[in-house]
Amino acid sequence: MKSLYCSLPFLFVVVCSLSWVNASANSHENFLDCLSSYHPQESSSISKVIYTETNSSYSEILESSIQNYRFFTTNTPKPLVIVTPLNNSHVQATIHCSKKHGLQIRIRSGGHNFEGLSYVSQVPFVVIDLVHFRSIDVDVENEEAWIQSGAITGEVYYRINERSTNLTFLGAVGHTVGISGFISGGGYGLLFQKYGLAADNVIDAMFVDANRRVLDRKLMGEDLFWAIRGGGGGSFGIVLSWKVKPVDV
Ligand SMILES: Cc1cc2nc3c(=O)[nH]c(=O)nc-3n(C[C@H](O)[C@H](O)[C@H](O)COP(=O)(O)OP(=O)(O)OC[C@H]3O[C@@H](n4cnc5c(N)ncnc54)[C@H](O)[C@@H]3O)c2cc1C
Ligand SMILES: *[C@@H]1O[C@H](CO)[C@@H](O)[C@H](O)[C@H]1NC(C)=O
Ligand SMILES: *[C@@H]1O[C@H](CO)[C@@H](O)[C@H](O)[C@H]1NC(C)=O
Ligand SMILES: *[C@@H]1O[C@H](CO)[C@@H](O)[C@H](O)[C@H]1NC(C)=O
Repeated sequence: MKSLYCSLPFLFVVVCSLSWVNASANSHENFLDCLSSYHPQESSSISKVIYTETNSSYSEILESSIQNYRFFTTNTPKPLVIVTPLNNSHVQATIHCSKKHGLQIRIRSGGHNFEGLSYVSQVPFVVIDLVHFRSIDVDVENEEAWIQSGAITGEVYYRINERSTNLTFLGAVGHTVGISGFISGGGYGLLFQKYGLAADNVIDAMFVDANRRVLDRKLMGEDLFWAIRGGGGGSFGIVLSWKVKPVDV
């Protein structure tokens, strides 16, 4: 009697974990099929930005921007798939297929989140790593710049400084912090007392919502535009790029 009693919880755990593994393996396969059929004409381009655990580059990509070494362990939950989009449609495809197959999305820009929220989850998940979303277009005359989400603050300082030594962006003290987690999390740096937060100097953004709509400030409305500048980016959708106002120095 005693031994049966003891093995019941054991059986329960085994059965439950097997069915979980099976479910996540299926959703993972279905997710990959979904991605490749989302834009059949682009299937070759999206297939080049999908990394599964069997891919030899998977660990390198996953670890590339991890800043909190507590999450370097083998028992840290890993994404089923990492997608490194080259353009908007890759982001939209990943949203569509993750929703369809019940996978959570974690969004990563610079990977500096202290809790690992951009690349760790307790449920089956996919990472959208914006490492290739990196262009920075500086318009010196109008004192404006469009910055793609995956850029890091040091790159932004550098690109602005190339065009004008009188302008800079209100970035972080550290130059490796990602622009998106920084702005969407209410980040501030050394010019805080004079100019306030980075979020105070954002004038527009390109954003993808859960229904895959690409919205700028006008289309998303002032409430959402307010929320993504300090409310934590990943809570609302995916920011593709930010239009910022550099400040005089
Ligand atoms: C070494 C170091 C130095 C730091 N220095 C400063 C500093 O000087 N000033 C300061 O204010 N803070 C600083 N921080 C904190 C840092 O600003 C935050 O951790 C910030 O959120 C990191 O942004 P990230 O893009 O690098 O991080 P990530 O880990 O990539 O993302 C952080 C969060 O934002 C979400 N997110 C990322 N990209 C997007 C996107 N495109 N759309 C929607 N959501 C998104 C993620 O899902 C996650 O929840 C520092 C952190 C570190 C580790
Ligand atoms: C790993 O994935 C990348 C991107 O999808 C692909 O280009 C590469 O060929 C893959 N490598 C291997 C060894 O499967
Ligand atoms: C996305 O990129 C692929 C290849 O790089 C290209 O064929 C496709 O037209 C792009 N789509 C958009 C919406 O930019
Ligand atoms: C930078 O500021 C100095 C002094 O105000 C000015 O002479 C110079 O023209 C400015 N340069 C640019 C690129 O705006």
